[in-house]
Amino acid sequence: MSDALTRRSVLKLSLASAAFGRFMLWTPQAQAATGHRWWKEAVVYQIFPRSFADSNGDGIGDLPGIIEKVDYLHSLGVTAVWLNPHYDTPNVDSGYDIRDYRKVNPDFGTMEDFDRLVAALRARGIRLIVDLVANHTSNEHAWFRESRKSRDNPYRDYYIWRDGRWFGAPPNNYPSIFGGSAWKEDEATGQYYMHSFAEAQPDLNWDNPRVRQEIYDIMRFWLDKGVDGFRMDTIAFISKPAGFRDLRPEELRRPDLVYADGPNLHNYIQEMNSAVLSGGDYLTVGEAFGVPFERTPLFVSEGRHELGMLFRFDVIHLGHGDWQLTPWGVPDLKAAIAGEDQSSGPDGWLTTFFENHDNPRSVSYFGDGSPASAKALALLLFARRGTPFIFQGQEIGMTNFPFKSVDEFEDLVVRGIWADAVTLRGESPKKVLDGIAVTSRDNSRTPMQWNADPKAGFTTGVPWFHVNPNTAQINVASEEGDPASVLAFYKRLIALRAAHPALIYGTFSDTDPGHPKVFALLRDDGQQRLLIVINFSAEVQPYHLPPALAAQEILIDTHGGAVSGAAVSGTDPQDLHPWQGRIYRLGA
Ligand code: GLC
Ligand code: CA
Repeated sequence: MSDALTRRSVLKLSLASAAFGRFMLWTPQAQAATGHRWWKEAVVYQIFPRSFADSNGDGIGDLPGIIEKVDYLHSLGVTAVWLNPHYDTPNVDSGYDIRDYRKVNPDFGTMEDFDRLVAALRARGIRLIVDLVANHTSNEHAWFRESRKSRDNPYRDYYIWRDGRWFGAPPNNYPSIFGGSAWKEDEATGQYYMHSFAEAQPDLNWDNPRVRQEIYDIMRFWLDKGVDGFRMDTIAFISKPAGFRDLRPEELRRPDLVYADGPNLHNYIQEMNSAVLSGGDYLTVGEAFGVPFERTPLFVSEGRHELGMLFRFDVIHLGHGDWQLTPWGVPDLKAAIAGEDQSSGPDGWLTTFFENHDNPRSVSYFGDGSPASAKALALLLFARRGTPFIFQGQEIGMTNFPFKSVDEFEDLVVRGIWADAVTLRGESPKKVLDGIAVTSRDNSRTPMQWNADPKAGFTTGVPWFHVNPNTAQINVASEEGDPASVLAFYKRLIALRAAHPALIYGTFSDTDPGHPKVFALLRDDGQQRLLIVINFSAEVQPYHLPPALAAQEILIDTHGGAVSGAAVSGTDPQDLHPWQGRIYRLGA
């Protein structure tokens, strides 16, 4: 029997014993009632397998490569891993186009490798969550190959087919998130299928109960393999509106807001929860693309039995749309952070993250590229309320890649932007390239920098994507030996969070939201009050703690390991160095 099954049976047993009051305290349910859950305490490390570690020299990262690095993950202190799609795929959108949900991408290895990965992680106390891509499949998935054959094929209704409005015109004006129309005419039957993303990613029809059962079966398959939960790709898009009316001009600017508001969205997530997720204590995190603040609690409020947490994008998308940049300042960042924090509602949970596989490197985007700013961001990441997610390489301060020409990009999104902006609208190529270079998700997809070798220790062969030349300076091997490194700082922070429940369960408040450069954030769990002060600039900032916040002790300092635990007196007036940050323990 797999561990997942064991866990589910244990849960059922403890449900039974919970009926007897005196056992209450010892059951997972009693723990849940206090709001304490393993996935709130977790620190999650995101792995984009293609770019993490290549074990066989074909230039593509793989599962055995990850297995070779589990001790590294353990030394970092993370307690869970989120694996980007590891499924069989034609790889049009980096695996977000799944051809077979029950098969491992042969580029990454075999099912035995996957089982060994689960075991290797578990042996080190690290849980694993996988990507659930359930809004769409690949157009090479067997369901779609059947579906497109004829209007009366048994799989026809697995996808969303409509007649065009008139010759050559799609059923409505929905744009694809990746550019162009969201409808593609298909020769075999003359109807159009819907694709919210690329043409090669037809949207599933969740209104068909058979589709929903298929997805739940796939989820059970991976839970039975021992995974501990799911990151749910673009989950808010699964319910489509009945009539497919045209979007109004103002809606066309943010179609995601409409796509994420289907009439049956929450019915389906609740059904998924009762059919699958209620069987265990899993980490579930939904990608909440298109969800406004006020609807966040609908997903994460505990009493609604939907998801554990969401990724919101207010912070990570601050100051950029696709590629256009708008100026922002520290108070805007503070406002975005506070907005996300409050959006969880009274009994919901959150995530805190500055990077993922869809966004540029945070040290380049929010910082100034320096290790000092990488540490300041790390401190801010852990100062926020919510489960922290670290994207591979973030923990060593990996930066954006120095892209010089549009041909250097791999991502289909970049090609879409280029076609729209340069070819169609005639924008200046230089301007578009400058914007893409700063914002593109290809920045996060360059190989992980393990050492100073030109191939970064990622592969012995030809890497599938450019290695950042700064691997000569920024790499795991050199940082492992340096107590002042970004990596060392992440390790200390992760350990500090585990030892200070106020950093996990404490309330979050911004004591100085208007300060143009310095963060002063308070975490308070009723037992301990912690003040996190961060100079979010490359200039010295004088900063005096408000008298009401008398500091007792410095728990961590970006500038110097030695001062940790140092006693401080009263308001501790001082100048903060560029990007300097500290956590103070305050008096009662
Ligand atoms: C999500 C994924 C992204 C992918 C898209 C379509 O946003 O994170 O990488 O391209 O969904 O599946
Ligand atoms: Ca490989």
